[in-house]
Amino acid sequence: MLAVVVCSPSKPPPYPYGGSSLRASPHRGHHLCAGASKARCVDVRMAVSRALLLLAQALGLAVAEMALLTTDPPWSVIFQGESVTLRCQGPRVHGQQPTAWYHNNKLLEHTKTNTYRIQNARYKENGRYKCQSSGSTSSNSITLSVSYDLLILQVPSHAVFEGELLQMRCRGWKAGSLAAVRYYKDGADITKLYSSAEQLSIPHAKTHHSGRYHCSADMHSYLSLKKRESQHLYVSIKELFTSPVLSVASSTEPLEGSPLNLSCTTQLSPYRPHAVLWYLFYGNSTVLRGPTTSSEYQMPTVGLMDTGFYSCVVRTKSSGVRKWSPQVLITIKRVPVSGVSLEVWPQEGQVMEGQRLVLHCSVAVGTGSISFSWHREGSAEVLGRDRSYEIPSTQQSDNGQYYCMASNGDSPARSLLVKVTVVGASSLFCNSVRALLLLAVLGILLLGVVVVHVLTARSREPKGMELRTLMKASASVVLQERMFEAVPARAPRK
Ligand SMILES: *[C@@H]1O[C@H](CO)[C@@H](O)[C@H](O)[C@H]1NC(C)=O
Ligand SMILES: *[C@@H]1O[C@H](CO)[C@@H](O)[C@H](O)[C@H]1NC(C)=O
Repeated sequence: MLAVVVCSPSKPPPYPYGGSSLRASPHRGHHLCAGASKARCVDVRMAVSRALLLLAQALGLAVAEMALLTTDPPWSVIFQGESVTLRCQGPRVHGQQPTAWYHNNKLLEHTKTNTYRIQNARYKENGRYKCQSSGSTSSNSITLSVSYDLLILQVPSHAVFEGELLQMRCRGWKAGSLAAVRYYKDGADITKLYSSAEQLSIPHAKTHHSGRYHCSADMHSYLSLKKRESQHLYVSIKELFTSPVLSVASSTEPLEGSPLNLSCTTQLSPYRPHAVLWYLFYGNSTVLRGPTTSSEYQMPTVGLMDTGFYSCVVRTKSSGVRKWSPQVLITIKRVPVSGVSLEVWPQEGQVMEGQRLVLHCSVAVGTGSISFSWHREGSAEVLGRDRSYEIPSTQQSDNGQYYCMASNGDSPARSLLVKVTVVGASSLFCNSVRALLLLAVLGILLLGVVVVHVLTARSREPKGMELRTLMKASASVVLQERMFEAVPARAPRK
């Protein structure tokens, strides 16, 4: 049972989700939304409408099948006075069920069984018949023709599909009175090809067997044989399924290493819903997969070798019908090169003249064999074609901006520029001299600062004194000290 749950606050809100077909069930609604916020209720409503949509789709798939109307004998042409039984086959046949019969779109009658019998057929029984059993939609129509001719061609009353048996019969009004029966399609005699004893049989009919058929025969007429011709009838062989089309998910130029999904699409006739179709997938005319009942073929990864012409075949189990799709060219592409980066030794590209410089090119993305080339900005010359580029002994002339290019086929990808600076030996000497001089100047300055600092520190102790008096004072102190020292020196120590 389907329970429709709808949020129902005190005042029913408008339904923004096309829920006009929803039946409100307030109690459950209240239950679900008790204590829930308004937003939560909207969520629930959305979920419900989505669920209903899915349900409708599911029901749509299960729509009643068409009834199948057949006749016994299986001919659409009968002689006057003959009998024929119409049979209506619905999808569900359990015991008796009423069947409605229609003649030229008018209800004929209801029968308790699924058959309707026409006895002693007359002209008024000519026309189109249809039936409908309970649990099915209206059937296919069958045209019945009651003939007053002497010679008739009997063709099938039901639709004949490709791969099925197509039979016809040439009959005279009086049994056993025919001689030299011949069959014709579009005016051409096809007796030798298909006829046997009493009838024409084409075991696995193809659509090209559609056409206008008739027959001729010698008939006894009183004491003589008289050649007669039947009516001409158009017979159409129906397509069981359409010519398949092979399609590629994503692109027909997938990248190396990526998956490839192929699907083979065909449309099966709704009149033969139970026909089983088999699929085969071809690459360069060799079978890759099949026969299988799956119309999909997945290759987890593809390589360059998988480039080629692909097609599929759809056939019936017996191979009675077999159809090729057009070919599709699938070209597997290399993953293009990208993320080209450059490394340089020594770091920063600063190298002393005469020293070795190495540049190395690397690629982040790209499949297959990758070719490299080395260039200097502003020059068309190719410096090298290896992954690394080396200058064993650098010169001043090697100064410049370098880059590498990498390619695996189409357009090459380029690295950023790296600046190479060759530091010459002479400039190195000048530099060191300059550095020494600078150091000396700095040392002198520092010394000066220290001296001034010391002197000012001393000048703070004897306040108010000038530098000169201070110096004089200190000089006199030194003198006096020397005099004191000198005195005992003069005095004899005895
Ligand atoms: C191919 O098929 C696989 C397996 O069914 C699936 O996971 C994948 O999404 C498909 N790829 C494409 C591009 O459709
Ligand atoms: C198809 O043929 C081409 C050309 O001969 C070949 O390069 C390719 O690998 C083939 N592909 C397959 C899937 O066999």
